[in-house]
Amino acid sequence: AQNFQVAIDGPASAGKSTIAKILAHNFHYIYVDTGAMYRAITLAAKLAGIDYQDEAAVVALLPQVQIEFKPGSPVQHVFLNGQEVTEAIRSREITNHVSQVAAYAAVRQDLVGRQQQLAQAGGVVMDGRDIGTTVLPQAQVKIYLIASVDERAQRRYKENQARGIAADLPTLKKEIEQRDYLDSHREISPLTKAQDAQVVDTTGQSIEQVVATISQII
Ligand code: C5P
Repeated sequence: AQNFQVAIDGPASAGKSTIAKILAHNFHYIYVDTGAMYRAITLAAKLAGIDYQDEAAVVALLPQVQIEFKPGSPVQHVFLNGQEVTEAIRSREITNHVSQVAAYAAVRQDLVGRQQQLAQAGGVVMDGRDIGTTVLPQAQVKIYLIASVDERAQRRYKENQARGIAADLPTLKKEIEQRDYLDSHREISPLTKAQDAQVVDTTGQSIEQVVATISQII
């Protein structure tokens, strides 16, 4: 029988990873942060001195890229070829180039395969952009998490401040909108609500409220 699957998709900074991680903990499921995987490939390209626009060179890296997750609080630890990259994959440079790398067909094919593999291990909460539509189309629960762009920019701003990353609010808002645009308009599995996904709007909602709403659905 298929393990229980919870798919959470939505635009940038809607709160997906925060919520997914708490749900996974509460239900004793594994948590898979698929955005971190696309970020890790993007960082691998940067470290190899590859131009993000050079699709063939980025794709050629895939067989040598090992991505691992280790539990941690408040965030999971992410390892790229054995090196911890938890912080490095969240830099503004990676954030602003990941959509370009994530649009490459061979990158998506490779990572979707790895994500489906990870979901074999047991009950899973997976967050991303194409989980309900492509990675786990049979998921029992599909959530499409949204929030107003102003609130998402505010959240990202506070998060960045806490991590000592400088960026003003209007710039962050513009970057979020641009990333959403690229993610929604790419050719292969663009960000879109799965037909059978339930929309949860987190604007003005606390983390606890959103967790309660989705727990009820699960
Ligand atoms: O979720 P996060 O903001 O970390 O995702 C970073 C980027 O990775 C997204 O903007 C998108 O370009 C890509 N992504 C994707 N498909 C997923 C998860 C993330 O294309 N399932």
